[in-house]
Amino acid sequence: MTAVTSPSPSRLSIDYYNATVHAVGERDGVSDAQLDSLAERVASAHARIHAEHDAGEQRWMNLPDDVTLVDEIEAFAAGARERYTDFILVGIGGSSLGALATIQALAHPFRNVQPDGVRVGPRLFLLDNPDPEKVRATLETVDLPNTLISVVSKSGQTAETMANFLVARQALVDAVGEEQSVRQIVATTDNRSGLLRVLSDAAGYRTFPVPDGVDGRQTVLSAVGLLPAALAGIDIRQLLAGAVAMRAATQGDDIRTNPAYLLAALSYLADTEHGKSMLVTMPYADALYGLADWFRQLWAESLGKRLSTDGREVFAGQTPIKALGAIDQHSQIQLYTEGPNDKLISLVSVGRYRSSVAIPNPPAETPELSYLADGELGQLLNRELIATAWALREARRPNLTIDTPVIDAFALGEFFYLHQLQTVMAGALYGVNPFGQPGVEAGKNATYALMGRSGYEQLRSDLTQPVEGSDAYRLTAPGRG
Ligand code: PA5
Repeated sequence: MTAVTSPSPSRLSIDYYNATVHAVGERDGVSDAQLDSLAERVASAHARIHAEHDAGEQRWMNLPDDVTLVDEIEAFAAGARERYTDFILVGIGGSSLGALATIQALAHPFRNVQPDGVRVGPRLFLLDNPDPEKVRATLETVDLPNTLISVVSKSGQTAETMANFLVARQALVDAVGEEQSVRQIVATTDNRSGLLRVLSDAAGYRTFPVPDGVDGRQTVLSAVGLLPAALAGIDIRQLLAGAVAMRAATQGDDIRTNPAYLLAALSYLADTEHGKSMLVTMPYADALYGLADWFRQLWAESLGKRLSTDGREVFAGQTPIKALGAIDQHSQIQLYTEGPNDKLISLVSVGRYRSSVAIPNPPAETPELSYLADGELGQLLNRELIATAWALREARRPNLTIDTPVIDAFALGEFFYLHQLQTVMAGALYGVNPFGQPGVEAGKNATYALMGRSGYEQLRSDLTQPVEGSDAYRLTAPGRG
């Protein structure tokens, strides 16, 4: 692999005054002394993370360097953008959220209804939930002879993904025949193992790899995120350049100058010292709502752990919430401002939106609206953010603002790398392993058992035993048969 270098430095900035004791007081704000007290732990975790990386672990850090993969993806995507009018992305969790965040941020918001020839690349349809209504509607909407199915699963055995894939694949076979269907399917999965690998090798599907040693939620900068993004016409080299710039900006071990470590420390202190057990991510841009969704999964699955790395029961984690400015000012902000003071609120501001929309003068009958005259929508949104940050501070609700000068592929790459390193450092501070997700295994196994997967017979029998006395706790609407 050749290392990619980014010619531009990171452009994100963080204003965290409102999260400190100076702005919201001692009870709710992080103090300088508290940050100082973490400095040594952060520095030693930094040394460990880098030593692990040098020993071949923490492989997510290397993803922006795989230029050969980028060449392959771009070549494939260029052909597919010409050939297909539709593509169905089949995947769930870490296998779809990064791609969605990228496409939502960087592609036209209504690309699916743009006409062919105007839209860049095929329309995108996502099959994540195995919801029969949505799956049926998707298959009725796409033009199957001109549809590419892109199935993504690291393990190659996720029930939702494999069920959706089997359904979509069968519809494609019915529409174009077995032989042609093979050319219209691309699988992104583990290079060596898993049922999707078996299926792909047997059928002869084109495949892209999910890298070894990287959890699903860390794969946004691998083929998992890059292939769908390239299909939507996104400049994936710029995405990676942004990640590389953020990697360069996070080489130091200083808690106050490394933005990822600063964010990790603020969240950790807010949670463990000030009772802020929830972390809200609230971008003031529709385009970044998917990023908040992606981060929600990353933070939840990585930090929500029962056991510490030394085997103690710690029940760690901070509940991530996504919100959207200014919409949630008319929804959740009431709760954030006057309800339980248990949140750290991370606002995301945009210096310059990609469109500028002037607000016209109001008609003479409504002079009360003249304060909007000569204004601009982006300016209004920005001022709403400033106003919200202030109002939260006045109510002693700690908040911080991450600012990006603009939403582009470079900025998205920066956000992805920043939040991944922030999460790894937060794992170190909580003393938990941010990799793996043992807490979801019980539910997965129970699903296999209930669906009759072989090897799960005992669990199925346990699960289907009536629980004595449980009927007393079931309410059936009166009159229901
Ligand atoms: O982050 C993770 O590892 C998970 O959220 C997975 O991405 C998710 O469960 C889907 O798994 P897979 O890619 O194996 O289908």
